[in-house]
Amino acid sequence: MEFLNPVIVLNLVVGAIGILLVIIDRFLGQYGECRITINDNKEILMKGGNSLLASLVDNEVFIPSACGGRGTCGYCRVRILEGGGPVLPTEEPLLTREQLINQYRLACQVKVRQSLKIEIPEEWLALQKYRAEVISVKPLPRTIKELVLKLIEPSIIKFKPGQYVQIKIPTDKGFEYRAYSIASETKYKDRILLNVRLVSGGIGSTYLHSLKGGDELEFVGPYGGFVVKDTDKDIVCLAGGVGLAPIRSIIFSLLDEGSKRKITLFYGARLKGDLYYYEEFKKLEKDHKNFRFIPAPDTPEPGWEGDVGLITDVMERYLGKDDADRTEAYLCGPPPMMDAAIKILSNLGLAKEDILYDKF
Ligand code: FES
Repeated sequence: MEFLNPVIVLNLVVGAIGILLVIIDRFLGQYGECRITINDNKEILMKGGNSLLASLVDNEVFIPSACGGRGTCGYCRVRILEGGGPVLPTEEPLLTREQLINQYRLACQVKVRQSLKIEIPEEWLALQKYRAEVISVKPLPRTIKELVLKLIEPSIIKFKPGQYVQIKIPTDKGFEYRAYSIASETKYKDRILLNVRLVSGGIGSTYLHSLKGGDELEFVGPYGGFVVKDTDKDIVCLAGGVGLAPIRSIIFSLLDEGSKRKITLFYGARLKGDLYYYEEFKKLEKDHKNFRFIPAPDTPEPGWEGDVGLITDVMERYLGKDDADRTEAYLCGPPPMMDAAIKILSNLGLAKEDILYDKF
């Protein structure tokens, strides 16, 4: 008599239990009215059954959710003090041991099945919803578009350079939110500038790239702690691709406000033609003695006389160990670039808290 492989049997049993649980959840999951108590001072009543993130957004409590609730960004971390149920396998990769001990959960993964007590940063309760009109669309290299959004209601926004907004993206099922850094300087309070790279299959970038002058959209914000510390240390910025957006906001805002801090921007791209805003930064360098601009394409090209190579290597060539204790770094770009930059800056002796970064 032949026996079935025990591993296959186990997988079949686990699969069957999973399907059964989904069916039970779908057909018997009558959760009734649930109460969410936020920070012990705000209460929301709702019908259970949705994710905590969706339930909060429906009630205009805007939790950061850069990945749109797909469980990949970790931005929607909230403390659930009561009623969250067991931690799900989909949450574990994005929560540290310490966060788990401190009852942090991912709001997009937790379903509201009963009343909950949660704790969120107080400033999230002050986040606002904005309606805006697209007043300019400009193509930039590498399928990037620059969009200028003029605010309609409310008509002004206060943000810190380096912060981002979440754009409401219409979908077949309703809407989702996607995060985009503000690229404009803080002096412009009636508009924001975005740099949007078209991502194949990306609902956020596809939607934003389809917009034209006169179209309206909604966003929420401003979010994010990738902001400049209030010190007098020198500033080193490093950007790659659309990582330039928050860095542009930081540099233009600081110089516009008359900052005397020494600022250096290392800006990398594959080709020299991909270095968008090149002329703007060149002019800024001319106008401000305390700003230095070091762009570098990866590959040498005829007519280019500046630095060439990986921008992290270029940065390493310029920085000295002597400057480490009076320097702060602000980095934004793809994760491998960020990891390399953090390693270089740490080896140079920069303190961990002086290396701020935004991976995307
Ligand atoms: S919204 Fe991205 S992990 Fe929850």
